[in-house]
Amino acid sequence: METLIPTINRLQEVFLTVGAEVVQLPQIVVVGSQSSGKSSVLESLVGRDFLPRGSGIVTRRPLVLQLVNVAPLQERLKNENGNGLKQNAQISYPGVKAEEWGTFLHCKNQIFTDFQEIRHEIEAETERNSGDNKGISPEPIYLKIFSPKVLNLTLVDLPGITKVPVGDQPEDIEAQVQEMILSFISNPNCLILAVSPANSDLATSDALKLAREVDTDGRRTLLVISKLDLMDAGTDALEVLLGRVIPVRLGIIGVVNRSQHDINTQKSLEDSMRDEQAYLQRHYPSLASRSGSRYLAKTLSRLLMHHIRDCLPELKTRVTMLSAQYQARLNGYGQPVEDHSATLLQIVTKFASDYCNTIEGTARYIQTSELC
Ligand code: GDP
Ligand code: NA
Ligand code: MG
Repeated sequence: METLIPTINRLQEVFLTVGAEVVQLPQIVVVGSQSSGKSSVLESLVGRDFLPRGSGIVTRRPLVLQLVNVAPLQERLKNENGNGLKQNAQISYPGVKAEEWGTFLHCKNQIFTDFQEIRHEIEAETERNSGDNKGISPEPIYLKIFSPKVLNLTLVDLPGITKVPVGDQPEDIEAQVQEMILSFISNPNCLILAVSPANSDLATSDALKLAREVDTDGRRTLLVISKLDLMDAGTDALEVLLGRVIPVRLGIIGVVNRSQHDINTQKSLEDSMRDEQAYLQRHYPSLASRSGSRYLAKTLSRLLMHHIRDCLPELKTRVTMLSAQYQARLNGYGQPVEDHSATLLQIVTKFASDYCNTIEGTARYIQTSELC
């Protein structure tokens, strides 16, 4: 997703200037049955280890993960500080020097620079609110991750669909979880990542079933087939991946995440991605270039690009209109312009025309981009 970052950063600035409600990048929400691999898929998209994962119910509250790209801020600080920080693009943040850090809404003043600690805090906060006996809660945990390597994007990790209550779970656990999931994915500005494990029949997929309830024509659902490595000997997912079992408009992407053993032995995300690619080459040579975690990230980038492209005309109209308004007010001041607020308006007008160029540049970039 890194190739998209500079473009989207510039555009985000435009959005902010002309009113953020004009364009919002879709939230990406992961749904699927319990232990299908949702948290694992999210982690590989973010490229960092920080989510609690494991067998049984691990994710027990929604986690709203807001990624914030700090590259522009770091760039600005670098310029302000001359060459001093050139080799070391670290920025200081209330007492911390780090490239990447996280904060939680429930403890705003605490800065987490260690991603293991972020995981522990998610676990601790889950227990604070929903007990230590498998209880669930619809109350989201809000986490922000600041990094120069992420897209400004919101991802949501959700508890999985279960059928039978365990521990402190209520009798109607299935209905409660479904309702929680629906409350997120019924938002039309949300992209649904439906995760279904390769070792269970796609026709029984809870993820797809729920996705279809809110996205009847499949315009915002992408299907991820996890656990390709766990299929019975003599079977493979080729037919499923080719869309011959159930076609999915935006695509079907097979992945191999880390196994429980890999988690226990702390296999790195990097090693896991490399082994995933090797696995795909070996077992699905014809599909290898269109499968795997990296391809999934690319596909999401492409979908986001399309979304932005569709929003550009409206954005441009809006900027042109604002610019005309400012220009009219500016003319009202007459010449020469001495007034302080008039100078400000001049600057804004100049900004607006720069922004129009940015939008046009972006449109061209999207057109020629190999992503599309
Ligand atoms: P979630 O409950 O849907 O969030 O699933 P998790 O991401 O917590 O994963 C559940 C368990 O399945 C963990 O033990 C993972 O290691 C394991 N797992 C997830 N995806 C895969 C996969 O593609 N292959 C293998 N072998 N194990 C996986
Ligand atoms: Na799980
Ligand atoms: Mg999970």
